[in-house]
Amino acid sequence: MVGRGGNCACPGPSPKLSEAGVAESTRTGNKGDALMNVMDAIRQRRSIRTYADRPVEEEKLNLVLEAGRLAPSAANRQEWRYVVVRDHDTRQKLMQAAKGQGFVGQAPVVIAACAETDNHVMSCGQLCYPIDVAISTDHMTLKAIEEGLGTCWVGAFYEAEVKVVLGIPDDVRVVDLLTLGYPADIPPPRPRLSLSEIVHHEKW
Ligand SMILES: Cc1cc2nc3c(=O)[nH]c(=O)nc-3n(C[C@H](O)[C@H](O)[C@H](O)COP(=O)(O)O)c2cc1C
Repeated sequence: MVGRGGNCACPGPSPKLSEAGVAESTRTGNKGDALMNVMDAIRQRRSIRTYADRPVEEEKLNLVLEAGRLAPSAANRQEWRYVVVRDHDTRQKLMQAAKGQGFVGQAPVVIAACAETDNHVMSCGQLCYPIDVAISTDHMTLKAIEEGLGTCWVGAFYEAEVKVVLGIPDDVRVVDLLTLGYPADIPPPRPRLSLSEIVHHEKW
């Protein structure tokens, strides 16, 4: 993985395209850039709530979506469906549906992560689709980092309103909204519990 703009998710120069239409720097690294491994992306990811007034290149958007497409899912059900929104007016309506969270209207792209689902429950008692769509969404957040982009998961929204705005059928669920764009501000890391607080060895 290659981070543009060094060790942060800062806006970087547009990558040169290879014949295959894949960013050269995605495969080989921009001159001077450190190679980004998965752990780098995990460490660098932040919830971005301020976006630069700069569009997201179609190629980068597609790479982000591709990362979501390749995610694992229970029995490979792949219930995820995405509605990609660039239109300004639609984003303002999504912002209202997301309880007025301003960055939802500011981000140049909002991805509504949905599930076309039969509400299958696994033997463990958990519903498949929220887990599967969450994993897929998280893949996208990490690929976005590699592309110099920022994301924020939005769970505070009224599903019924989002469905009306985007014309989503009744039987499709909206799991999350993911904002995507070049960060204008990268906040410091939020605190996390230590491993000793969250890990039990052998027994609870
Ligand atoms: C399921 C879920 C729902 C979230 N919903 C919102 C939201 O509606 N608005 C928001 O600003 N951030 C939302 N977040 C982002 C969290 O606040 C953020 O991930 C957390 O504070 C840790 O910060 P970090 O992502 O920068 O590490 C959500 C995150 C998750 C995983």
